[in-house]
Amino acid sequence: MSYAAGVDVGSTQTKAVIIDESQRIVGRALIDTGANVVAAAERSFAEALASAELQEPEVEYIVGTGYGRYRVTFGNTQVTEISCHGRGAVHMFPGTRTVVDMGGQDTKAIRVRPTGEIVDFCMNDKCAAGTGRFLGAASAALDIPLSELGGIALKAERPVRISTTCTVFAESEILSWLGKGKKIEDILGGVHHSIAGRSIGLLRRVGIEEEVTFTGGVARNIGMIDALNRGLGLKVNVSEDSHFMGALGAALFALDHIFASREASHAPAEAAGALV
Ligand SMILES: Nc1ncnc2c1ncn2[C@@H]1O[C@H](COP(=O)(O)OP(=O)(O)OP(=O)(O)O)[C@@H](O)[C@H]1O
Ligand SMILES: [Mg+2]
Repeated sequence: MSYAAGVDVGSTQTKAVIIDESQRIVGRALIDTGANVVAAAERSFAEALASAELQEPEVEYIVGTGYGRYRVTFGNTQVTEISCHGRGAVHMFPGTRTVVDMGGQDTKAIRVRPTGEIVDFCMNDKCAAGTGRFLGAASAALDIPLSELGGIALKAERPVRISTTCTVFAESEILSWLGKGKKIEDILGGVHHSIAGRSIGLLRRVGIEEEVTFTGGVARNIGMIDALNRGLGLKVNVSEDSHFMGALGAALFALDHIFASREASHAPAEAAGALV
């Protein structure tokens, strides 16, 4: 039995996934990327190996992806995160035609074919206002952990209108709403609505075709799932593994390589056998 791995070194968090030959996830790891990108890649892979109870030589091929993919020094090759999120999303939800990946710094809208190949994609420019970073600013301003923001936002009755288009000013706008006596849930409702609106703008640029699959770490945020569902007027696909979708796609590309090289090494022998 061979194993394949994908390591997605994101700007904020690094994800590693190991799959077996039947494409089943047997190990995974999630850590903060931090300043030492090479070390983050190595540590995530070591943790994924430990969770799968495997030794390094048992993993035959490794694909790096994410903004730090060239820092996966032990990887065999690299694939862009656009391709990996597309591949992972179609694997997990075969009806996927549109993917929205919301990460720590970037949001990407991706259109895919039924095979997972990319038709078109679009991402936020230099501005992080429609990304997880905006949530990070809200978390800091309100002193509430990131993992709790979405649940609080769901309780909003009269969400405020967030007017800032820049993460740098998000914190001061949030504080000014607090100063005006607005409830925290209404402020967070407004923040989620604003981020969802920006992401939907990106999705419209590539064209929204159902099914829509939500990937990246922000897909763990129930408030953002709800805001996207309402804004799009449909239910996005979300999986417990949404955060690992890029790493899963990378691992699937790694598995393709294992199978292709096996076929290539068998082909001449079979051809020779046919002659006998
Ligand atoms: N438990 C959680 N609950 C809610 N949100 C979370 C949780 N864990 C992570 N996030 C969000 O996910 C973000 C990180 O997502 P992800 O790992 O996909 O980003 P990344 O790949 O590092 O970034 P990018 O793709 O932009 O380079 C965090 O910034 C945070 O907003
Ligand atoms: Mg990412």
